[in-house]
Amino acid sequence: MAVETSSIASLKEEIDALKKNRGAVIMAHYYTRPEIQDIADYIGDSLALARIAATLKEDVIVMCGVHFMAETAKILCPDKIVLEPDPQAGCSLADSCPAEEFTAFIKEHPGHTVISYVNTSAAVKAHTDVVVTSGNAREIVESFPADEKIIFGPDRNLGNYINSITGRSMVLWDGACHVHEKFSVERTAELKKQYPHAKVLVHPECTAPLRILGDCVGSTAVLLKYAIESDADTFIVATESGILHQMQEKCSSKKFIPAPPADSTCACNECAYMKLNTLEKLRECLANLAPRVEVAAETAAKARKPIERMLELSEKLNK
Ligand code: 13P
Ligand code: SF4
Repeated sequence: MAVETSSIASLKEEIDALKKNRGAVIMAHYYTRPEIQDIADYIGDSLALARIAATLKEDVIVMCGVHFMAETAKILCPDKIVLEPDPQAGCSLADSCPAEEFTAFIKEHPGHTVISYVNTSAAVKAHTDVVVTSGNAREIVESFPADEKIIFGPDRNLGNYINSITGRSMVLWDGACHVHEKFSVERTAELKKQYPHAKVLVHPECTAPLRILGDCVGSTAVLLKYAIESDADTFIVATESGILHQMQEKCSSKKFIPAPPADSTCACNECAYMKLNTLEKLRECLANLAPRVEVAAETAAKARKPIERMLELSEKLNK
């Protein structure tokens, strides 16, 4: 049967049967397509996906997200098979920080502790002291003494946000996410005028002028929790639009409006990498047990330390 003619229902049945047969677990990030989120065993932000991966019993993990998320799962579970439905699912932010250039940057700043956002390659993590996600960056940075010299990479917006709320002066790598920098401050402010009672939810990878409009600034999980707990009935959401699926699922009577990108002719608030995960590719990777994520043993051993340090600190700091 041609892949194109498979109905969604029969694809889901095939995936379910293959998953059982392979002893696999399916994990998905909030930015993936709704049908991927609906079939996943676990959905979460980067922090939750890393945390859960570290505790799984199944021998096969399918990571429906982007490459660095699959790499993180493989580093934490070296003996498991980690599958990624499309190995082309990269991340513009991780790509904005090549390992060789980052290590040269570290050498230019001797005596600095290196804190890296999880949106990085394993090679960058291998040169990092502690990894953070947008869900725990503030608490982990604040766990260091106030005068600690810190390099933060690669997201200049998240780094700048953490500097502004903690009063730190971390040295920032100049990287960014192409999706989160594309939101229009002017058009979002206009939308807010149109819906004056709406709450504005902003991911910290967005630029500072957009964050100023935010009633809540946080990771995808934090924004979702805020939407669930808030008394407001309308929300303007400045992050990748895949999260709207969970928001709508959890809050069926509330209205969620995606914040508009600067270029009104394109859907720039979609992460094309996340959308590479499709049901067809998910079925194929379970059927073939490929493509598999591999991380060179030496790099994995070095990258594992700062990830585990994050998980330990995160647990201790309850974040
Ligand atoms: P979260 O950690 O909030 O899930 O974000 C991951 C990401 O890629 C944001 O663009
Ligand atoms: Fe990377 Fe941006 Fe996509 Fe997140 S939204 S995975 S930071 S490209």
